[in-house]
Amino acid sequence: MRRFLPYFSYVKPVRWPLALGLLCGLIYGAASGFGMPYMVKYIFPKVFAPGAVRLTPLEIALIAAWLPAVLTIRGIAGYLNTYLTQYAGTKILEHLRLDYFRKLQFLPLSFLQKNSTGDLISRGVADTNQLQTTLSNLANDLVKQPGTLVAALVYLTWLAYHQSGVGLVLVCLASVPLCVLPIRYAGNRIRRRAMDLQSELGSLTGRFSENLASAREVRAFCLEERETVRFGKTTHILLSLQMKVVKYTKAITPAIEIISAFGLAATFIYAYHVSLSEANFISIITALYVCYEPIKKLGALSNDTKRGAAALERLEYVLNEPLLLTDPVNPVDVGRLRGDLAFDNLSFTYKGDTPALRDVSVKIPAGTTCALVGPSGAGKTTFANLVLRFYDATAGRVTIDGIDVRAMRLADLRRNIALVSQDPVLFNDTIYNNLLLGRQDATRAEVEQAAQDAFAHDFILSLPQGYDTMVGERGASLSGGQRQRVALARAFLRNAPVLVLDEATSALDGDSEAAIQLALKKLVVGKTVLIIAHRFSTIRDASMILVFERGEIIDSGDHTALYGRNGLYKTLYDRQGTS
Ligand SMILES: Nc1ncnc2c1ncn2[C@@H]1O[C@H](COP(=O)(O)OP(=O)(O)OP(=O)(O)O)[C@@H](O)[C@H]1O
Ligand SMILES: [Mg+2]
Repeated sequence: MRRFLPYFSYVKPVRWPLALGLLCGLIYGAASGFGMPYMVKYIFPKVFAPGAVRLTPLEIALIAAWLPAVLTIRGIAGYLNTYLTQYAGTKILEHLRLDYFRKLQFLPLSFLQKNSTGDLISRGVADTNQLQTTLSNLANDLVKQPGTLVAALVYLTWLAYHQSGVGLVLVCLASVPLCVLPIRYAGNRIRRRAMDLQSELGSLTGRFSENLASAREVRAFCLEERETVRFGKTTHILLSLQMKVVKYTKAITPAIEIISAFGLAATFIYAYHVSLSEANFISIITALYVCYEPIKKLGALSNDTKRGAAALERLEYVLNEPLLLTDPVNPVDVGRLRGDLAFDNLSFTYKGDTPALRDVSVKIPAGTTCALVGPSGAGKTTFANLVLRFYDATAGRVTIDGIDVRAMRLADLRRNIALVSQDPVLFNDTIYNNLLLGRQDATRAEVEQAAQDAFAHDFILSLPQGYDTMVGERGASLSGGQRQRVALARAFLRNAPVLVLDEATSALDGDSEAAIQLALKKLVVGKTVLIIAHRFSTIRDASMILVFERGEIIDSGDHTALYGRNGLYKTLYDRQGTS
């Protein structure tokens, strides 16, 4: 229970419906704990006892009305209790899920790379769901059941005491505390298994998402059977974990029923010895029975709490993850930057000991088109990522116009940079809205101009709904070249002083290729451009070329100079030239 206390802030927006729901729970508890046994003890004997006085029709009507009255109040209160507490639970879930999602937006890329997508999805869907179930049940039963229990216990104690003193009270109540034993026993076992279960659910989602994302590879490499077998293994593990949880959860109710049966038997024997009347005995048994119901429900609730705690732990793994890449406390206000880039003695390590960049120092003046070349894994993408502050340097710094990128607000920094990645991803939205991502406040005319500059306008108009055509998931309904032109149009729209371009490695069809090259020529004018270049035409046109090898910049200069003096550059260039 204490686990949930830090999350009380989530309750605040729903405190009124929740309070009303809990009040209804109390009314429900009183009606069931007290109403029924009272009727059995006092009302029925009046009617059915031998020699009872004859009742007037009004009295009969009133007595007959007792049952519907109690059950109506109990029914309505119970319904409102459930409805309102479920409402509160759903609302809390909504906020929690939103916070979880928001947190994912701000976490560093390294965190997302460390964890599997499926697992992160599963935490946001299945674990929040489990938590909602727990919260709703908690809110639902936390007042209702103890309320019923206390009302029944008070009534039972009072009744038993009046009938034959303390002895009967003790006999009746003896078995009640025993019921806690199975609850505790099962609870301890459920906790850990629930954790395993939720995390296995994550693996299952992971398998799904990985498989669906690689649908083409699965078919091309004939992996259908292998994938199905792997999936089968995961579902099997999940099933066995589920059964372990079921084993303990479902044992609680019968265990309590068995214990309560012994309690009832003891009461029966004692009642026989003190010669209790039939009506008194039945009334006591009814009250005792009413006590066991809430205990059973509380047992189930305790289970649920364990599962909820396990789910919460999984959410906290993300919610409590420190945001390593944050805005500085006193950010330097920057408007539009000029775009003088500099790396000062910068080193960066992803993880382990091998640095991806090693003591890199370089100045790239504003307006330079700078090509990054080097063998695969040399650190080119890493270099560009550090300018966007996707990661923070392990040592040294990156500056723009002399300002450390860590001294600016992240949003200010990134507003000054346009990124066109190798394989641009579009959102499943209209082309227009995808273009608008370049600059949210752009007008229709500006968007169309940008599309024209990127040679995308014509192909967009030829689509069935023009700018309003939906592009499909990740832009699947467009060709690679079309997606790239949309990405370039976004960069035109953004019109940022710094442009980071990861050139596509795959060759495009001639028309697309020519259009993209033309668009690029126009786009780079007056900007500081970092271009991870794979095509020798791009490399040759760059005013500055940095040659990367194993995390270091081993040489820089223009094409002619490098070609003359640098062996690695010459090899790379010649290889590209012939391919
Ligand atoms: N997310 C990551 N986690 C751990 N190591 C990484 C990560 N990304 C890259 N690396 C490592 O850092 C080194 C530099 O990688 P980087 O992606 O910068 O190379 P690159 O020059 O862009 O290569 P390519 O031309 O193949 O794109 C490589 O050794 C790579 O294995
Ligand atoms: Mg790369």
